[in-house]
Amino acid sequence: MSAIKFGVCGLGRIGIKHARCFSQEKEKYELVAGCDREQERTSELRKDYGCAAYNDFGEFLRNPEMELTIIATRSLDHVNNAKQALAAGKYVLLEKPIAVTSDDFKKLKKLDRKYSSRLFFLHNHRFEPSFQSIQKIIASGILGDVQMVKIRRHHSFRRRGDWQTLLSCGGGQLSCWGPHIIDQALQFIHAPVKDIWSNLKRVNSLGDADDHVKIMLVGENGIVADLEISDSVALADAYCTIYGSRGSLICADEKNIQLKFIDPKHQLPERRVSPDLPPPGGGLGADEDFHWIQKTVKVEPEGDMWELVEFEIARHLYSAIRENVPFPVVNADALEVVRVTEAVKKQNPHFNWL
Ligand SMILES: NC(=O)c1ccc[n+]([C@@H]2O[C@H](COP(=O)([O-])OP(=O)(O)OC[C@H]3O[C@@H](n4cnc5c(N)ncnc54)[C@H](O)[C@@H]3O)[C@@H](O)[C@H]2O)c1
Repeated sequence: MSAIKFGVCGLGRIGIKHARCFSQEKEKYELVAGCDREQERTSELRKDYGCAAYNDFGEFLRNPEMELTIIATRSLDHVNNAKQALAAGKYVLLEKPIAVTSDDFKKLKKLDRKYSSRLFFLHNHRFEPSFQSIQKIIASGILGDVQMVKIRRHHSFRRRGDWQTLLSCGGGQLSCWGPHIIDQALQFIHAPVKDIWSNLKRVNSLGDADDHVKIMLVGENGIVADLEISDSVALADAYCTIYGSRGSLICADEKNIQLKFIDPKHQLPERRVSPDLPPPGGGLGADEDFHWIQKTVKVEPEGDMWELVEFEIARHLYSAIRENVPFPVVNADALEVVRVTEAVKKQNPHFNWL
């Protein structure tokens, strides 16, 4: 099967990584075009990859070779860029946030209805090795029924001052990291979201956008997801903590997963509740032998998480485009992430959302 000829628009911090990582998969992808409004960036790309390079988006889209366009421009341009690329007949892989404003959200839903088989969303953190390993552990059943999931993105304590801290540029952590961890939370909840509670703050960022995000989601199945993204936590929490009816899991550093669970062979003996006077200092059930198993599992594969997620999304996208295999990031799920974000914005009117 032939390699997908692709182009990247927006050759910034992430766009250039997409160009590099996708082109490393030589049998599956060939970089044929790049676009950025900065001349220096397109010249560099042309020099490094020998591909066509444009400073005008319209001209870039007229490249007849390009089948797939990866859109990695600033967040507020995503939907309009996607609309133009789809109209030009390209497959589109759209960076998150896939829609920032409610107007964008409306437009995106229309695009999805019209072009669903050609529009893909870049929720790449779905493929983080730690997240994938945790999902496998839950699916194995050793933790029993999951009641609560905590996900934290406590970045280093910092006073960030780039465009991602300005609401007028579509910045803020709700738009920046929100799509990733809400997407992950929805995979744990495995049900429609029933309740949303949130509280957003700007603590240390130099811009006017949120840099501390707290969101609680409750699924219709009762699973609670407690999410935090922050640039202002000096002592970071573990990335992920799960409470299940037969055990717990903590993934502190994305490299190891600590587990404590009841031996799957151990059937809990029947016990009865009693209204009688308990013995002094006892009767709390703490003396029960649960046959605990404790172990630490290494997250596999090891390596640079940022590159591993690129290769995984590239692999899945290739199968979707060339082999008709369903893409794991289902469009309806990605649109649900935007619905949650929209609700969070409404709950935090102290920010001047666009
Ligand atoms: N999925 C992820 O893991 C991930 C990681 C980082 C960033 N992102 C997303 O990717 C997008 C880009 O982020 P970034 O950090 O790379 O930003 P950036 O500012 O580093 O890069 C954006 C690039 O787009 C170019 N650009 C802007 N408008 C353009 C236009 N109209 N035509 C052509 N080029 C244009 C800029 O010159 C710049 O080179 C953001 O929406 C961000 O949320 C996603």
